[in-house]
Amino acid sequence: MHREDFTMLDSDIVYFDNGATTLKPKCVVDSMVNYYTRHTSNIHRGDYDAAIKTNKLYDDTRKVVAKFINSDSDEVIFTSGTTMSINMVVFGYMEKVLNTGDEVLLTKSEHASNVLPWIKLAEKKGIVIKYMDLDEDYSLKLESVKKSITDKTKVISIAHVTNVIGDVRDIEGIGKICRDNSILFCVDGAQSVPHMKVDFKNSNIDFLSFSGHKMCGPTGVGCLILKKKYLDIMEPLCYGGGMNNYFEGDNSYELKKGVTKFEAGTPPIAEVIGLREAILYLDKIGIENIHKHEIELKKYLVKRLKDVPNIRIYNEKSDSGILAFNIEAVFAQDSSIYLNNYNIYVRAGNHCTKMLKDEIGVKNTVRVSMYLYNTKEDVDKLVDVLKKSEDIFKIVI
Ligand code: ALA
Repeated sequence: MHREDFTMLDSDIVYFDNGATTLKPKCVVDSMVNYYTRHTSNIHRGDYDAAIKTNKLYDDTRKVVAKFINSDSDEVIFTSGTTMSINMVVFGYMEKVLNTGDEVLLTKSEHASNVLPWIKLAEKKGIVIKYMDLDEDYSLKLESVKKSITDKTKVISIAHVTNVIGDVRDIEGIGKICRDNSILFCVDGAQSVPHMKVDFKNSNIDFLSFSGHKMCGPTGVGCLILKKKYLDIMEPLCYGGGMNNYFEGDNSYELKKGVTKFEAGTPPIAEVIGLREAILYLDKIGIENIHKHEIELKKYLVKRLKDVPNIRIYNEKSDSGILAFNIEAVFAQDSSIYLNNYNIYVRAGNHCTKMLKDEIGVKNTVRVSMYLYNTKEDVDKLVDVLKKSEDIFKIVI
């Protein structure tokens, strides 16, 4: 779909590394170039035409984001990306409200950004991290969530879609369990918001994090969406201009209310404008159409890979465009170097998901992650190259 919108695809590449970052359509790049060449200005400070235009686009982005994930616009904080969003939740909010012995439930298929902040908080505050059991296909079932809950469970923090297995968690179901048990629900939406409908309000999510660059937008911008009631309690991790009402020589100060309290200093203005354009672009195509397209491609890929004898697939059944595999007896990085020789771009390694090895039994995999512009021809090219992978050690030395 829409391949002509992506300049990178003018060259003869197959881009299958969308879980790491997606390609950017021309309209996103143009919106940022337009800002830099025609209306460069800071936000919320100037009264001249360029500044008024920039303010309008920046402020409108909150509305565009809110509509896309069904939140209110005064629940949208711009951050540098998912990692920063989760760190803000853990050290700005959880550090204040959690106590020694409180339990936080994660899984072993979480990305580093949804594990390490919690490990640090355990060090600082003595919270207890527990890992919920995964099913045989590495998915997380509601029964496993229910059985992991004790009277000390205060938080469940999980990816909506995991970045290696690509399993889609039942966010509404888990959200309901959280509501019934007064548990805070944190969702890492980095691999879901770009690919499927995510409904912040109707899933009882307390904190939702995602990144712009995985959804056709620029790097350096992302969002933290949170229920309004947390805005006053949560503390910013960063202090400076734009987020205070006053500060005086006697050290008294007052911070602004609402989301601006969390956006100190000059924000990534061009990136926010680019994110707006990216979401409008995805909206025009329709997020449901994108999801459907990816599922079809994934099924096609799995079917075609059955013809390749020496492939081990780890996540045949997951309902996303992510597929993790290995060529038997070949180191994952060697496989990706081999594929690169044919202009096929994948990611190999542990994918920042370093505990997953405890579940799947290997440290490294090759990951194909698809997006709206991938095609059956891309899949055919991959499969054809994998079929002749007995050549691999002639190419990878
Ligand atoms: N989280 C990104 C990935 O899965 C970087 O590749």
